[in-house]
Amino acid sequence: MNKPLKIGIAGLGTVGAGVVKLLAEHGRLLSLRGGRPLKLVAVSARSKTKKRDIDLSGVRWEKDPLALATASDIDVVVELIGGSGGTARRLVQSALRSGKHVVTANKALLAMHGADLAALAEKRGSILAFEAAVAGGIPIIKALREGLVGNRVSRLYGILNGTCNYILTTMRETGRDFDVVLKEAQAAGYAEADPSFDVDGIDAAHKLAVLTGAAFGARVNFEGIHVEGIRRVTSMDIEFAEELGYRIKLLGLARETRFGIEQRVHPCMVPLSAPIAHIEGVFNAVAIEGDFVGKTMFQGRGAGQGPTASAVIADIVDVARGRHMPAFVVPAARLADRPAAPMDRHQGAYYMRLMVQDRPGVIAAVSGALAKERISLESMLQRGRSQSGEVPVVLTTHETEERAMQHAIARIAKLGAVAEPPCLIRIESF
Ligand SMILES: NC(=O)c1ccc[n+]([C@@H]2O[C@H](COP(=O)([O-])OP(=O)(O)OC[C@H]3O[C@@H](n4cnc5c(N)ncnc54)[C@H](OP(=O)(O)O)[C@@H]3O)[C@@H](O)[C@H]2O)c1
Repeated sequence: MNKPLKIGIAGLGTVGAGVVKLLAEHGRLLSLRGGRPLKLVAVSARSKTKKRDIDLSGVRWEKDPLALATASDIDVVVELIGGSGGTARRLVQSALRSGKHVVTANKALLAMHGADLAALAEKRGSILAFEAAVAGGIPIIKALREGLVGNRVSRLYGILNGTCNYILTTMRETGRDFDVVLKEAQAAGYAEADPSFDVDGIDAAHKLAVLTGAAFGARVNFEGIHVEGIRRVTSMDIEFAEELGYRIKLLGLARETRFGIEQRVHPCMVPLSAPIAHIEGVFNAVAIEGDFVGKTMFQGRGAGQGPTASAVIADIVDVARGRHMPAFVVPAARLADRPAAPMDRHQGAYYMRLMVQDRPGVIAAVSGALAKERISLESMLQRGRSQSGEVPVVLTTHETEERAMQHAIARIAKLGAVAEPPCLIRIESF
């Protein structure tokens, strides 16, 4: 029998416990697939006494997770603590410096320090693998490193946050508003007590930054991402979207433009004819467009113990087999320092909803503000009279530039008859 691959795991929460369970349950199968036994040698977490529902007999407990990085009997350190800095970062750096392979699910760490960690890994001849960091159980990093490696990627987009997709799906299905559905999602365990990372788009942006790096061979650039979350999406907009043939999704998108790589995370109007419009609930999806392959889409569970552990194990089996590519597909020293395309140069169509006083001349004033910026209207929906005297008016535009739209919105918001800040949602075409 070949020498076992000796594993140290830091972090025994949702993902770490899942990895321990999977290793135990599929041990024999994995040793065949990996070409050698996968042996869990040591673990570390904050509390040794916490009840975890996993069997750790015969496994060494390290009080300090950093000890895993230098232990002579460990080949691969699996970092499942989380966070962009602190212990997780020190552990990954120290393990790579010690010449150990690292597997991590930590998108925040990779979004902030991915390029530097990739360079460190290459310098020491180690593998840095992070399939679980993007879209949980969907093997999208492998797809970019392997199956799609022959392509130049022109665009990628995805539903990268299951919590947001669950909230938007439930809002549509029940007609309830964001705050109510968020509370229910928290009670059901689909949203964190502090939901801001998810609902403000940060988590999706972390994953987009990593994906963009791997797809475009560029240094990971989290700061270059335009990020908006879903807090301002109302059930009224979701209803109008359906009426117009769209579904509202929080997407992460990246594409090549003449100004650089455009990366953005925000709610989008997605045509119902696009497959990604029908990815519902906690599911994630990632679409990659390549010059030779054309359009591809991958879907599956983007989080949770089983799917995430499945992705971590895929990386561990690669390490066991000695199978690897540079972390971001091209060598770290050759990762391009591409400029971030400024958001105000974004080209696209827009949905705008206004709440206006129902009186003559309002529509003419709104149309005038758009015409001044040379924005042409595609459609307009107006609802009948309301008790309060304010009625929704919904406009969609043809393709225009973001800065023209922002100038027009600023003018429209100042009109006396416009009751609240206009709601603007970008329309995507696929
Ligand atoms: N949960 C998911 O579905 C999912 C999906 C994809 C990626 N990820 C990523 O996977 C990583 C882990 O997520 P998770 O959901 O498993 O987190 P979690 O349930 O909060 O578990 C974190 C674990 O890290 C341990 N820990 C925290 N600080 C530590 C420290 N300073 N020293 C040693 N151990 C420490 C905790 O110890 P105690 O148990 O003793 O408190 C716990 O076992 C994160 O990077 C996350 O973004 C998670």
